[in-house]
Amino acid sequence: MKFSTFYFSGTGNTKWAVEAFNAIIREKGHQAELFSIDLGENLTDDRIIAMVRDSDCIGLANPIYGGGIPPIMSDFLNRLVTILGPLQTQKKAFVINTFGYVNAFGPKEMGKLLAGSGLVMTAYVNIQLCNNVNTTNAVDREMLNKRMTKGQMELTRLADRLLSNRKMIKGHGPQLMIGAIIRKKVPDAIGRHYQTLSVNAETCTQCMDCVNHCPTQSIRFEEGQGFTFLPGCTACMRCYNFCPTGSITMNGSYADPLEVPRYQGPVE
Ligand SMILES: Cc1cc2nc3c(=O)[nH]c(=O)nc-3n(C[C@H](O)[C@H](O)[C@H](O)COP(=O)(O)O)c2cc1C
Ligand code: SF4
Ligand code: SF4
Repeated sequence: MKFSTFYFSGTGNTKWAVEAFNAIIREKGHQAELFSIDLGENLTDDRIIAMVRDSDCIGLANPIYGGGIPPIMSDFLNRLVTILGPLQTQKKAFVINTFGYVNAFGPKEMGKLLAGSGLVMTAYVNIQLCNNVNTTNAVDREMLNKRMTKGQMELTRLADRLLSNRKMIKGHGPQLMIGAIIRKKVPDAIGRHYQTLSVNAETCTQCMDCVNHCPTQSIRFEEGQGFTFLPGCTACMRCYNFCPTGSITMNGSYADPLEVPRYQGPVE
């Protein structure tokens, strides 16, 4: 069987989960590929259609933001429904979500978003890793390693289920009640996240890493004007966490990288 997964990962957690899943699938003698939906990857409609056509099972993977899915992923899913709809093909699909503290999303909404795409969700898993936002304490590696081990087991179960044509829908439960409240409040804050970001000109070396690696191309630099953060920002925290000099701040707080450690993904 061939598995192709479209993923979004701001800071590496979700990418780790998809790579771990793909390694398990390959160990079991099957094919597995992954495709980043970052705008810079230039994933054209034709390429997406070909990938879906040539695969037996389609994966969708993203972090949980505010009990929901990041704008870049919901935009991608809307696009997928539009471009796959006319094909009228039915394909098995699975979802891998990663989260830090409380996953309040649930498979129902993902199913709703996929309606009309021909992708039929047969599996949904949540993998708890590490929070990538406002990590005011050093990352607890021991805890993260335990979660990665648990995640590996969950992903192995997912692979076994998919390969034996069995469903695996996890994520129903009381946490969806919490999600209802979070999901009402947080999307606005995510939409306004770009307004909270700025660059500390005193420490910035103008290396342009943030501009070149923003998944939604929402950071502009102009000589004399400095940096502007644009409304397309999906609030992924990549620029904040990966700036080599820790020069990106949020509302001027969480600024000093020596006092506030940045999170750079699960792989050391
Ligand atoms: C804007 C934003 C909102 C988040 N909201 C939640 C949340 O509601 N629940 C949760 O458990 N984790 C939340 N997180 C943490 C991420 O879901 C978690 O760190 C995820 O694994 C990051 O994946 P990535 O490294 O692939 O980007 C949030 C992170 C961001 C940046
Ligand atoms: S990544 Fe950091 S140092 Fe490099 S240009 Fe951006 S803010 Fe400046
Ligand atoms: S501006 Fe920063 S937080 Fe917003 S999408 Fe780009 S990298 Fe992510």
